[in-house]
Amino acid sequence: MSYKSLFEPIQIGNVEVKNRIAMSPMNMGYTGPNGYHSDQGTAWYAMRARGGFGLIITECVVMNPHRWGGQECLNPSLMTDERYYRFHSELTEMIHHFSGCKICIQLSPGWGRQGHPHVESRDCPAGAPSAIPMRTDLRNINKGWEKQVKRLAREFGGEEIEKIVPDFSQVSKMNDEEYEGFRTWALETIGTVSPELLHVVDGDTPRELTREEIIDLEDRFAVQASAAYKLGYDALEIHAPHGYLLHQFLSPRSNHRHDEYGGSLENRSRFLTNIIVKTREKIGPEKALGVRLSGDELMPGGITHEEVKKVIALCKDAGVNFLNVSQGSYENPAAAFAPDGEDEFTKWAPGFKEASGGLPVITPNFINPETAEKAISSGKTDMISLGRQAIADPFWPVKVKEGRTGDIVKCIRCQRCYMDLMTANWARCSVNPAVGMEKYYPELFLDTPKLLKKMNLFKSKIKDLPQI
Ligand SMILES: Cc1cc2nc3c(=O)[nH]c(=O)nc-3n(C[C@H](O)[C@H](O)[C@H](O)COP(=O)(O)O)c2cc1C
Ligand code: SF4
Repeated sequence: MSYKSLFEPIQIGNVEVKNRIAMSPMNMGYTGPNGYHSDQGTAWYAMRARGGFGLIITECVVMNPHRWGGQECLNPSLMTDERYYRFHSELTEMIHHFSGCKICIQLSPGWGRQGHPHVESRDCPAGAPSAIPMRTDLRNINKGWEKQVKRLAREFGGEEIEKIVPDFSQVSKMNDEEYEGFRTWALETIGTVSPELLHVVDGDTPRELTREEIIDLEDRFAVQASAAYKLGYDALEIHAPHGYLLHQFLSPRSNHRHDEYGGSLENRSRFLTNIIVKTREKIGPEKALGVRLSGDELMPGGITHEEVKKVIALCKDAGVNFLNVSQGSYENPAAAFAPDGEDEFTKWAPGFKEASGGLPVITPNFINPETAEKAISSGKTDMISLGRQAIADPFWPVKVKEGRTGDIVKCIRCQRCYMDLMTANWARCSVNPAVGMEKYYPELFLDTPKLLKKMNLFKSKIKDLPQI
């Protein structure tokens, strides 16, 4: 099969991307203490740039300076002020050593009610549109998650404990009353086996953000966004999917406000559109500025695809020039982060294109190059992005280009990577032993002709110098 469409360049704002293959934003928890980028984080991205990705989208980076939400615990990468800048410029410079690879920062104003508790913030609840806690519905657990729940139970208590893990296909059929009983038991058990997981399943009650706090976040976002381009990022994606803070404002399920940030869809979109307008004012009309949205919240009372399309039109008017598709929220874990198969998200892409009047659209959730090629050649999406498949095989793009598709290491959807993150472990992959150890294997990625040429010149000038 020919993979011609995958290797056509594409224009996003003022950026030309060399192919149609992006790496999805994925927080692997490799950030160093206090939210600074680490060498492992840089090596992790560099290996994917070496593998031929046209666009690397970073893990979600938070610009919110407040401790509520305790960002350090799970999604720790921060860019709240100048202290963080030089680590970001080191990363962008590294990625630009790989021919034509572009890098986009995913920037977020925070987690809101999906915020994770942190030792320093336990007494200060996260700010959200309304004081409504997040409640993950365990009836949405799919095969990948079930495997991980069983693994954790086995590791904690051996086979006896593993045996008490229910068959989640039966849990999914429970009515509300049966489910409440099950949920109480499940929370007690999770609290014993892996307390770190509790806050992902059962969020703390947040507090309602004041109007002044929201405006302050909008202004700060625009400042940090404009700094990001100066630090070498080619593009910026506003993080508004998966039930996080911006999504919470969009959703009637989590936003019960009565001021200009709640009520009508236009009001619920105001935090997001103000961020776009204020950022555009600072960066000018050309730069690549996009937004990631869940195509549908896939929860009762959540924002629907029809409403999301209207939000997209508002975002386009406010000034974005590309879009990234996702779906769901933490409350529906099988939808947002972990479909068992592939190509589940492409169904939303035509709606994104139509609502935005044809802006470039990026769509994740692929394993096989044939499926990815078809999604592009059919015109449904403009770029594909690899999430877990980029963890499993950083060299997917170059293998496809070289016709070595038989050498691709395929993601088996076991969900180990994500569960490691959720349980505050170092993220590893069941099929790729290099994951989490990239910094120890520079020979796998630091062989770019551009870098080697510079280094060889430098080395030639110290050749045969005696030790004095
Ligand atoms: C370990 C992990 C971390 C993730 N972190 C983020 C993130 O920081 N921001 C985001 O928008 N999506 C995040 N996602 C979701 C992915 O971007 C992607 O949409 C999802 O994994 C589905 O695509 P896939 O089937 O190709 O993996 C994460 C997914 C995984 C597996
Ligand atoms: S195979 Fe690797 S990338 Fe895929 S889900 Fe499992 S751990 Fe994650």
